[in-house]
Amino acid sequence: MSIDINRLVRQNIKDLTPYSSARDEFKGEARIFLDANENSLGSPLTKWYNRYPDPLQWELKKKIASIKATKPENILLGNGSDECIDLLIRAFCEPLQDNIIICPPTYGMYEVYANINNVGLKTVPLTAAYQLDLEALEAAVDAATKIIFLCSPNNPTGNSIDREDVEMILNNFDGLVVIDEAYINFSRQRSFIAALAEYPNLVIMQTFSKAWGLAALRLGMTIAHTDVIDILNKIKPPYNINQATQELALKALDNLDSVNTMIGELVQEREWLAKELSGLTYVLQVYPSDANFILVKVPDANGLYGYLVAQGIIVRNRSNVILCEGCLRITIGTATENRELLAQIQQFAKGTA
Ligand SMILES: Cc1ncc(COP(=O)(O)O)c(C=O)c1O
Repeated sequence: MSIDINRLVRQNIKDLTPYSSARDEFKGEARIFLDANENSLGSPLTKWYNRYPDPLQWELKKKIASIKATKPENILLGNGSDECIDLLIRAFCEPLQDNIIICPPTYGMYEVYANINNVGLKTVPLTAAYQLDLEALEAAVDAATKIIFLCSPNNPTGNSIDREDVEMILNNFDGLVVIDEAYINFSRQRSFIAALAEYPNLVIMQTFSKAWGLAALRLGMTIAHTDVIDILNKIKPPYNINQATQELALKALDNLDSVNTMIGELVQEREWLAKELSGLTYVLQVYPSDANFILVKVPDANGLYGYLVAQGIIVRNRSNVILCEGCLRITIGTATENRELLAQIQQFAKGTA
């Protein structure tokens, strides 16, 4: 399907003259920089951080692109993928006019950013098997629907969305389709990045917060057709990725092997914990996970949650979320943490038997 991305962009964003920073206006090498009102003396902390960073982070994007088999110009970096979600909604959805579709239970920030941007929200719940309800999605789409947000592997359910269903939407919806792949490195499924050439409306989001172990850096990625990325670059804050984050992320990318080892360990722990929890009579269901957490159904989620808090162990109580009644979401911890968690759940279960 051919899609004119420009048709989807808000008129005021199309017309916008973006801010032109000092580093946009002069990109070359020079001996003396007196163009950006920085502190030329440096900082007492370190002499390296007195200059503004590269607004488009080319060095970092080149390295990410080579690892992810895409091109630097297909990448937008955000202050966490949360910023990527906000920018996309802000660029493409006209407040009080357009809408986005989400499929709950899913990551909460799609809805929050729709609300912040005063954009309509349509919810099409997943099926009981936590897959897409294609018929309901088709019925929900209207002329003002700009973006469908899909999350795979999905948070909080942990499962991957069936690839053919995602392809069906990509082929039939003439707006943007986001696939939030925050947890893709823990998954048996392959990323949609390789499909970018096929689908101009495909927008992939990934993050350094999960598999890369760098949640505190706040670094997220939007990977999409250059028509989409160019629009997002137009509206992002000029220096949204700070210098320290760019440097540390570059270093992290040099350590792919150790990151892959960590992912392997977490996946092994996930499988161990899922098996152990499934063996407890107290646990009603352990949902299959392609992520670094598992969703678990128990008879008394609030009781178990409170008990774990009292023991100093915090999991996420999802029991008031649609289709997750009675469920706790448990992030995979270290081997020691997982064993302690299991022992405490066993202790709680004994008390309720
Ligand atoms: C599905 C999903 N997308 C995005 C995010 C946010 O990621 P970031 O830390 O990059 O903002 C999260 C965080 O939990 C998430 O679960």
